[in-house]
Amino acid sequence: MYKQRLSSALAVEGLSEQEVLNALEKPKESKMGDVCLPCFKFARAMRLAPPAIAAKLLPYVEGLDFVERTEVVGGYLNIFYDRAAMARKVESIAADKATVGASDEGKGKTVCIDYSSVNIAKPFHIGHLSTTVIGGALYRIFEHLGYNVVGINHLGDWGTQFGKLIVATRRWSSLEEVAQNDEYFLNSLYVRYHREAECCPEMDDEARAWFKRIEDGDSEATAYFDVFKAVTMNAVGKIYGRLKIRFDSYAGESFYNDKMDACLDILKEKNLLMESEGAQVVNLDAYNMPPCLLVKADGATLYATRDIAAAYYRKKTYDFDKCLYVVAYQQNLHFKQLFQVLKLMDFAGAEDMEHIAFGMVSMEDGAMSTRSGRVVWLQEVLDKAVEKARAIIEVKNPESTQKDEIAESVGVGAVVFSALWNNRIKDIVFSFDKVLNFDGETSPYVQYTYARCASALRKGGEADVGNMDLSAITDDEGYEVIKSVLSFGDSVKAAAKLREPCCVTRHIVDLAEKFNRFYIGHRIVVDDMPVRNARLLLTRAVANVIETGLSLLGIDCPPEM
Ligand code: ARG
Repeated sequence: MYKQRLSSALAVEGLSEQEVLNALEKPKESKMGDVCLPCFKFARAMRLAPPAIAAKLLPYVEGLDFVERTEVVGGYLNIFYDRAAMARKVESIAADKATVGASDEGKGKTVCIDYSSVNIAKPFHIGHLSTTVIGGALYRIFEHLGYNVVGINHLGDWGTQFGKLIVATRRWSSLEEVAQNDEYFLNSLYVRYHREAECCPEMDDEARAWFKRIEDGDSEATAYFDVFKAVTMNAVGKIYGRLKIRFDSYAGESFYNDKMDACLDILKEKNLLMESEGAQVVNLDAYNMPPCLLVKADGATLYATRDIAAAYYRKKTYDFDKCLYVVAYQQNLHFKQLFQVLKLMDFAGAEDMEHIAFGMVSMEDGAMSTRSGRVVWLQEVLDKAVEKARAIIEVKNPESTQKDEIAESVGVGAVVFSALWNNRIKDIVFSFDKVLNFDGETSPYVQYTYARCASALRKGGEADVGNMDLSAITDDEGYEVIKSVLSFGDSVKAAAKLREPCCVTRHIVDLAEKFNRFYIGHRIVVDDMPVRNARLLLTRAVANVIETGLSLLGIDCPPEM
């Protein structure tokens, strides 16, 4: 807690903020302070003995509002926090849920976040889980910090797969049948197409011709396209509802059809386009990258071409300060090329583009492939998680009248949480047992802790705000809880700065662990009123932090479990 603020105050006398942050430690005993700075590490650079360094640094922290006292002991600078100030902060967290961890650091700044960006007429599979929930979490985290956020679903609604689907629909089904069915039906046509096209290559020519007709705005072809899109959007809409995901724009790839020419003109004007075997490319040899292909020999544009147009459109429409792309690391090269081309074009937002990469999710029993049809549907994963959660609730809370609602929150929450637990870049192997473990580093564990707080508060009644006597919390367990409650805001900021929702995820698990240790060691509702009041206020603050943290991640908090 306060480490960030301490390190910026101590970035003096040639020390960097990061150096200080890395050096700050928790003292072995609490009588040596809440945090200490061992100064041995700086002796060489500062050409001073450690005790002299500590003495020199002391004045820089003495005046800080949260510091009560400082002392130099040997080569250490020990810092004691102001308990009364801490009590007031705990109280304000207990009293006002809406502002927990919030700030206005983003005021006046706009962040565009491109996330989820599913492909129309392809299934919403587990591979799109991470982009969806990481993007959704970043959306809410930035919003909580006062940024103006624009969530964009850059739908993959363009490409030859639509031609293939038209061929499949005409051969084995009809427009009416597709319109009446769901996305699974649509996918079965897609799978069948790929199976049969292997021995029937002329189908691909047919598909290309149909796609060309879509591109030319032919009304028969467009009618198919519209139905495919409607069926898929209906299906993904349901999933977004369960995951609590929303977007401000669904401008997908097709939206840019009439916006690419202007970009190609800029490229030509700047002499960046080269011809290569009939195609138009931007040569990126100087940057050690393969050329960026923008127009094929037959005149067709590509994914990258549409992304260039999208970047210009977003800058013009939203005037963003940052434009984030939450997309799997498999597309690292695409984004490196894209950003480089935009730089060469002198695009105004070129320095503000960021690829927020993440790793793969696979199931315990192996990966997936859309084409062969061996795919793990997200909806099925959610349903199965809810079903398993239902069975657990049945045992833990047989009397509850809210079992269905609780199971939905716990099951869906567990899946969401699993994708937000690690640093983005790590690959994840998904296991139902692991994510639903009530004693693990999981959302059920955190939700359970919240329910425990809620039940203690129901028993103890609301506490007396304005009367918190922090000295009533004398034990280390309680003090650890206080510190974790108070440093939550730092984790929210770190999550935004690093674009890592796991800073929030980890913080609330850590808080839950600390609270449970406290709870097991101490009764909340005791007769001693100042102690009861302090513990109730702290419990309320913990509940508020957990609820805020989970809601930033897109997860509900059932009041009982
Ligand atoms: N639809 C793409 C996919 O599923 C992701 C699009 C990401 N956004 C972007 N602007 N390229 O792989």
